[in-house]
Amino acid sequence: MSFSLFLPCAGGAEEFLAAELARIGGADQARTLRGGVQLRGDIAAVMRLNLHTRIAQRVLVQLTQQPYRVEQDLYAVASAVPWEEWFTTKQSFKIEVTAQHSPLKSLNFAALKIKDAVVDRFRNKSGLRPDVETRWPDVRLFAHLTADAVTLYIDTSGEPLFKRGWREDKGEAPLKETLAAAMIAASGWQGEVPLYDPCCGSGTIAIEAAQVACNIAPGATRRFAFEKLRGFDARAWSALREGARAAERRAEVPIHGSDVAFRMVDFANRNAQRAGVGDAVNFRGGDALQRMPPTDTPGVMLLNPPYGERIEAGGVAGARSRAGRETAQSETQGDFFAQLAAHWKKNYADWSAWVLSPDLKLPTRMRLKESRRVPMWNGPIECRLFRFDMVKGSARKPQEDAPAGP
Ligand SMILES: C[S@@+](CC[C@H](N)C(=O)[O-])C[C@H]1O[C@@H](n2cnc3c(N)ncnc32)[C@H](O)[C@@H]1O
Repeated sequence: MSFSLFLPCAGGAEEFLAAELARIGGADQARTLRGGVQLRGDIAAVMRLNLHTRIAQRVLVQLTQQPYRVEQDLYAVASAVPWEEWFTTKQSFKIEVTAQHSPLKSLNFAALKIKDAVVDRFRNKSGLRPDVETRWPDVRLFAHLTADAVTLYIDTSGEPLFKRGWREDKGEAPLKETLAAAMIAASGWQGEVPLYDPCCGSGTIAIEAAQVACNIAPGATRRFAFEKLRGFDARAWSALREGARAAERRAEVPIHGSDVAFRMVDFANRNAQRAGVGDAVNFRGGDALQRMPPTDTPGVMLLNPPYGERIEAGGVAGARSRAGRETAQSETQGDFFAQLAAHWKKNYADWSAWVLSPDLKLPTRMRLKESRRVPMWNGPIECRLFRFDMVKGSARKPQEDAPAGP
């Protein structure tokens, strides 16, 4: 049986997700929408997508889409969905409601109406009802309200997919694994040249890249909500996982990360071990303003550098600002980025650097001309992923693929 599926992702990552889903295969009729990709697939495709997508946040199965005007309409729409085909009264559930231009005043009240409909439907059928559990539900239901339509989904992922199961150690501003994967996809890197993150923090970008290079499925070590849904085919699932394990390989290129904070380097190493890429990625301590290229062959740098309120530049630039206490933070940051650019121009000839930043003026601060700027949302923060192509002494001219965007 084929379902309409929706896979939400970070804003800006939609086209990369669509390309990734085409590679994973097993589903069709993909449509790229704002905030995700819609496509059709059966339960086998649902398992496959959960196991292999690096960029999507969840895999949702659409159960109905109907017009509505008032809260009572939501009750009627939710009452008509055969929930008992998906889960039982022994399982707890939770409803999450999102809305865009909905005329309803309270989303909590909308959720309550849908919850009542689910509970009443079970009780009418069997005399029993499932419990609501907001922290660790067995089953998550999603309702999305637009100005005039409600769409109900059942979630097949459970914990959001950025929780791969390996990042137990993290710093103050860790990047979501799904966003790191979107950055890697945007850069076009597929494991053929070296990759280096000189501000690696807990190692997210380098570890994601190492898993790509080793063809390790991102969901290889975690559990999914579909394992608790009715009709779960445990044999098909274990065959799928074994197939994925059998396709793992050794990375063909070196992958490196470094950070000025040695504590982060420890974290990154431990995370890499848990992610199964301890041998494929190499983490070291050091200031990005001083570290020389980790390989003789030029490659790709990919980083979300220290920025703004949560994380200041450490190392040489940070020490300078701590010495002159009156220096404004933005000046320190500007200084850090100008020095970073100078260091790259001098020592990183023929590398390209992809930098995720909320600062739309970053190229000016770095005195570099970007050859790409890709809009990408880091949670609620609007960012750009800038590409800089390094040649000794200056930045290369922009390439013809540079989009005109803001
Ligand atoms: C935004 S965090 C990176 C987070 C990382 N992508 C992750 O997922 O954990 C920025 C990192 O830059 C590091 N950093 C700050 N100044 C640095 C410097 N001068 N050289 C190298 N790393 C630096 C910080 O210690 C921090 O871990």
